[in-house]
Amino acid sequence: MNSSASPTPNPLRDGLGLRSAPQSCTLVIFGATGDLTHRKLVPALYNILADGEAPPALTVVGFARREKTNEIFREELGEALKNFSRQTVKDEVWDHFSRSIYYHRSEFSEPEGYSRLKDLLDEIDREHGTNGNRLFYLAVAPDQFGVILDGLRAHGLNEAKPGSWARAIIEKPFGIDLPSAKELNTVVSSAFQEQDTYRIDHYLGKETAQNIMVLRFANAIFEPLWNHRYIDHIQISAGETLGVEARGGYYDGAGAMRDMVQNHLLQLLCLTCMEPPTDLKANSVRDEKVKVIRSLHPITGDDVATHTVRGQYAAGAIFGKEVPAYRDEQRVDPHSMTETYVALKLGIDNWRWAGVPIYLRVGKRLPKSGTEIAVHFKSAPAVLFNTNAPDLDQNVLVIRIQPDEGISLRMQAKIPGAAVRIEPVKMDFHYGTSFGKASPEAYERLLLDAMSGDATLFARRDEVEEAWSFVDEIRAGWDDPTFSTPLEFYAAGSWGPDAADRLIGADGRAWRRM
Ligand code: BG6
Repeated sequence: MNSSASPTPNPLRDGLGLRSAPQSCTLVIFGATGDLTHRKLVPALYNILADGEAPPALTVVGFARREKTNEIFREELGEALKNFSRQTVKDEVWDHFSRSIYYHRSEFSEPEGYSRLKDLLDEIDREHGTNGNRLFYLAVAPDQFGVILDGLRAHGLNEAKPGSWARAIIEKPFGIDLPSAKELNTVVSSAFQEQDTYRIDHYLGKETAQNIMVLRFANAIFEPLWNHRYIDHIQISAGETLGVEARGGYYDGAGAMRDMVQNHLLQLLCLTCMEPPTDLKANSVRDEKVKVIRSLHPITGDDVATHTVRGQYAAGAIFGKEVPAYRDEQRVDPHSMTETYVALKLGIDNWRWAGVPIYLRVGKRLPKSGTEIAVHFKSAPAVLFNTNAPDLDQNVLVIRIQPDEGISLRMQAKIPGAAVRIEPVKMDFHYGTSFGKASPEAYERLLLDAMSGDATLFARRDEVEEAWSFVDEIRAGWDDPTFSTPLEFYAAGSWGPDAADRLIGADGRAWRRM
């Protein structure tokens, strides 16, 4: 018998005991007629149910302004579900679930609407056994938060009854800069305490993003190497072939820095670079993440020109099909200076990461969609096999967040044969083949966590504010004519502006081919 075999079961395989079970509740969606409900929220709930992960009672109330009956609302959601569900929709599961979905018509500012909501929720509790637990989902523009939260507060809906809970989930964008984020935080905290506030960053719900921590802290081999002694640099890339689509109205006022960098990419950076937390509780993990953002070397003054690139797509072709320039998209200012591409060179001022550049790039209308974190290790010493080829490829650990979720490690190997010829090879782990099942959608994980009261995968107030403060400084630099950081144009379907290649090239490095 193998003496090293452990007789105790692996708790990670059975599910971490730390995550409590989701509890019966009603999800109240404000802005329920919008895209998010149809494309993401209801499909996520359906899949949770179909997978048997749902709490014993789960009901939905869609709160919105348009006139609609329960039946029409259910029908529309059912239609959308067919297109957006991760798994094939089973009629019996949907029929059963759809009977737990209600439509509640009201203006957000109408006091009467909230007292009717209160009655409806009480009635649902009696009929479905949802136990007074309420999850209020604000899927609306941030300027509506105040009025909705006031409405909830005025009717005591933000207060949980004894033995129950009331929580708020807030969709992005969480502000447009630090002052607006602070203001929103103040508005939200007037109705819900921080522990009951769940700020969505759907990247944190992605299976592979969650796996970053497991990779780093459940394996013995990576952590000793995970520092400036062994890591040369890190590249975090997020490319999309899509353009701005129908979202020009929102996007033109936001841009890639606010839309993707401030939230999603900085969160990935935090998970990659944080110190091991004391435990896996929400605040322990978030304490470590916020320290990373606080340690980011500020990009100000002349650094803005040397450490940042902003670009905008011009006309071009994606998969051989011609696509218009950003400025010609619907609801975009024809003279827009909004960036659809950002490249940054970041540094983290702490012991672990001193001197390790972290390059980050994100863009719309790139040739390929995909998000990855590539950890480039330092080259082997120029002796033995490397004597004549000191530039042999570095070992690179790539965490593919999407698509084809997985992890690969590039290393050198000898080509079979008499001569000693070396070539890089890849050790590859694919989620799909290793576990034989598709990963749940980010919203499934996040909704379940909110129903369980686990805020680990949601952004805390200080994380959001620190991230804005970092990003605001760069944006201020872009707006300051003293520092020359022109908006660079790139053809749709190319890998971004040449200036981004120069940014990384100045350090003798190149972007990884995705
Ligand atoms: C959203 C942004 O938060 O994330 C979009 O607003 C972007 O502009 C999207 O397209 C990307 O998410 P995903 O999950 O498709 O990578």
